[in-house]
Amino acid sequence: MKKVSVSVMCADYNNLGEQISKINDFTDLFHFDFMDGHYVPNVSLNFDIIKRLNSVMKKPVNVHLMVTNPADYIDRLIELKVDSISFHFETISSQAFRIINKLKSNNIKIGIVLNPSEKIDLLDHLYNKLDFITVMTVDPGFAGQTFIPEMLEKIKKLVEVKKKNNLNFEIEVDGSVNDKTINQLYNAGADIYILGSSGFFSKGDTIEKAITATNKYLP
Ligand code: DX5
Ligand code: ZN
Repeated sequence: MKKVSVSVMCADYNNLGEQISKINDFTDLFHFDFMDGHYVPNVSLNFDIIKRLNSVMKKPVNVHLMVTNPADYIDRLIELKVDSISFHFETISSQAFRIINKLKSNNIKIGIVLNPSEKIDLLDHLYNKLDFITVMTVDPGFAGQTFIPEMLEKIKKLVEVKKKNNLNFEIEVDGSVNDKTINQLYNAGADIYILGSSGFFSKGDTIEKAITATNKYLP
């Protein structure tokens, strides 16, 4: 089953509550980007925003940590009852098993994000412990960047690894998912599609239009 995840960082902040209630009916997940201005040269969403929106959101919350010390964020995310957390591999490599165990014991799903420069083999010791793997199709840190087509091969390789080893992780794509790229991503085998500003929202489309457009591409 293909899933859509809406990147809240790309929503209209003037009408955030209203937008979220409309998105509720359409999205499978809410994607929250956290940045610390250090791991990536930008800042974005934070704990308080999730806290304020928690009563409005009717779908699970995924937090994508683009921060140098993600372990410091886990306790507060557990308190906020998020559904899943995505970590960049290089920021947890020395403590991956400890973090995975902590999340599992708190019923939080775990995903690892691979930057465009990172090969899938980095995760071969973790495949069977992960709920999802996110393939960044742009460098992390900013919305609205140009799609990197070489990442389609990486998705295909992950699909092969999954089949060969009978694994369950879902394959997520983050970065420049739009009407030009979504077909290719679908054909490559992606399961979860993060919709950000270079997608349907950038054209000033309403949520309703985005719903129709996305459904057209994702059976
Ligand atoms: C970027 C973020 C993305 C961002 C994607 O580093 O991780 O989630 O919202 O935005 P687009 O789809 O515009 O590339
Ligand atoms: Zn993201």
